[in-house]
Amino acid sequence: MSTLFLSRKECKMYPEKGGIQNMSQINLGGSGLMVPTVALGAMRMGDKTDAQAQEVVETVLSKGVNFFDTADIYGNGQSTSKLAGALKAAGVQREDIILQSKGGILSDKGPVAEDGILGPRYEFSKEHLIASVDAELSRLKTDYLDVFLLHRPDVLMQPEEIAAAFDTLSAAGKVKHFGVSNMNPWQIELLQSVLDQKLVANQLQFGVMHTGMVDAGLHVNMADSRSVDHDGGILPYSQLKNMTIQAWSPFQYGMFEGHFIDNDKFPELNKKLQEIADKHHSTKNGIAVAFILTHPANMQVILGSMTPSRLTEMIDGRDVQLSHQEWYDIYFAAGNDLP
Ligand SMILES: NC(=O)c1ccc[n+]([C@@H]2O[C@H](COP(=O)([O-])OP(=O)(O)OC[C@H]3O[C@@H](n4cnc5c(N)ncnc54)[C@H](OP(=O)(O)O)[C@@H]3O)[C@@H](O)[C@H]2O)c1
Repeated sequence: MSTLFLSRKECKMYPEKGGIQNMSQINLGGSGLMVPTVALGAMRMGDKTDAQAQEVVETVLSKGVNFFDTADIYGNGQSTSKLAGALKAAGVQREDIILQSKGGILSDKGPVAEDGILGPRYEFSKEHLIASVDAELSRLKTDYLDVFLLHRPDVLMQPEEIAAAFDTLSAAGKVKHFGVSNMNPWQIELLQSVLDQKLVANQLQFGVMHTGMVDAGLHVNMADSRSVDHDGGILPYSQLKNMTIQAWSPFQYGMFEGHFIDNDKFPELNKKLQEIADKHHSTKNGIAVAFILTHPANMQVILGSMTPSRLTEMIDGRDVQLSHQEWYDIYFAAGNDLP
């Protein structure tokens, strides 16, 4: 068995195969690009001071987290620029970090790409995708992205146009790997049918308080609300296709409604997280990360906190492997049930 494909559980079971060292890394979508299981998202970095951004970047780098996710739309380009400044101030070499950005969402607040076009809408035209990458490269002051994702599915997308954009970006050496975000299996199949490049990642919301991807699978053929399939079975599809799910907003409930840890609205959940954290010499923040990484799909967690102490606790959670019962107990404490 190749160590590249050891699951987190196997890492613990077969340390002699080099698994322990791989516990904090995964092979992104089978591409061969080894990435940390926990990454930093820059969505909330745009309005931080340069010093705050630098401290956040240095904190995660000191824990071996060298994967940074951003998007042209975040702060209308501000977040990416701030991230670039922080990386430069931290003195990192380009080849030592992995930069991922996303494009395809047009804002009504100002152009996010060099084509100057305005939304609000989603836009996967060849010209816009290339302009989006160029704009991000110039903000990041680099000549390539390790990964570029289509941010949200454009209902008017022409797969052949996306293929032409990817070919152009790939041939120019501007993008090494491609992926999607918030897409379901058939949208991915449609794209993949015309693309020369394998789609390596799909960014989707997932966390203790957002478990739609597993709810429907637990309630197959039932008549209750959790049996409703909201994503076309994206979780088993991603496992089958070896496509990495990047879990966004892992600490939020709803869509950006707020964080659930130390939130009075969720007393039972916080009590359970603390109880399990104590058992593992971890923290509630750490256990919320472990909840995602314990799933056998080998996901990657995209953290959004801009608080160094919290980031440290969250990142340390990658070393915790929850038992089956602990995983289900957190699921129940989050307000879920089984048929
Ligand atoms: N593809 C997509 O459609 C999509 C959508 C959204 C996000 N994303 C990506 O995912 C990344 C993460 O998203 P996110 O920022 O929503 O993630 P998050 O980590 O769930 O939320 C971060 C926010 O919650 C607060 N927070 C988290 N844990 C907390 C705690 N224990 N106590 C108090 N406050 C807490 C943070 O505050 P502090 O900063 O004060 O710690 C911060 O404001 C983004 O940066 C972006 O890269 C992708």
